[in-house]
Amino acid sequence: MDILFGTKRLSVRRFRSADGDDLAEILTDKEVTYFEPYDTFTHEAAVAEAAMFAESSEFFSVVLDSKVIGKIYFSKRDYGTYEIGYTFNRKYQGNGYACESVGAFIRYAFDKIGARRIMAEIDVRNERSFKLCERLGMRREAEFKQVYPSKEGGYNDFYIYAILKEEYSK
Ligand SMILES: CC(C)(COP(=O)(O)OP(=O)(O)OC[C@H]1O[C@@H](n2cnc3c(N)ncnc32)[C@H](O)[C@@H]1OP(=O)(O)O)[C@@H](O)C(=O)NCCC(=O)NCCS
Repeated sequence: MDILFGTKRLSVRRFRSADGDDLAEILTDKEVTYFEPYDTFTHEAAVAEAAMFAESSEFFSVVLDSKVIGKIYFSKRDYGTYEIGYTFNRKYQGNGYACESVGAFIRYAFDKIGARRIMAEIDVRNERSFKLCERLGMRREAEFKQVYPSKEGGYNDFYIYAILKEEYSK
């Protein structure tokens, strides 16, 4: 069984290679990938990416009525820290789906995976993303200047948001 958990409206499960077309809707959208650390995908590359995600333990599908509407990245760092990332189909943003699924994922990670601290790196211009972190109770811990190459040339600043197990109440 590859389903991790359900929420009121969604389920979160391991990626399947059959998720390729749904993932392509997300990764071929320039607006969605704008703040991501990779370029916009072609359809074929996104289908191949889904096959790679299906073999990885770090990528999860957020599913609404059998459709994959988002992906969650969850990756181990040192000493019980994990990094979380999330990317949603533009057509499904603005409905609280990211908050519902990422929030439940954080609960799952603290209770079942043994995470102690969960953090996210967010481009300082990506307000929707840091608002989501703030809705989830994550704290802005740091701001780093000119670290990652920007898509427009130059280098971007980013924030670190984080939350500890004992701080999470959702
Ligand atoms: C970051 C991202 C996941 C946020 O998605 P989102 O849909 O805005 O986030 P939420 O699930 O928290 O939804 C919040 C919005 O839904 C609205 N909403 C509607 N119904 C809701 C409900 N039942 N519950 C909660 N919120 C609801 C809220 O009012 C809010 O709207 P607002 O943005 O106009 O204030 C999304 O913008 C995205 O995928 N971006 C591209 C990829 C990216 O940048 N990822 C982050 C890299 S660090």
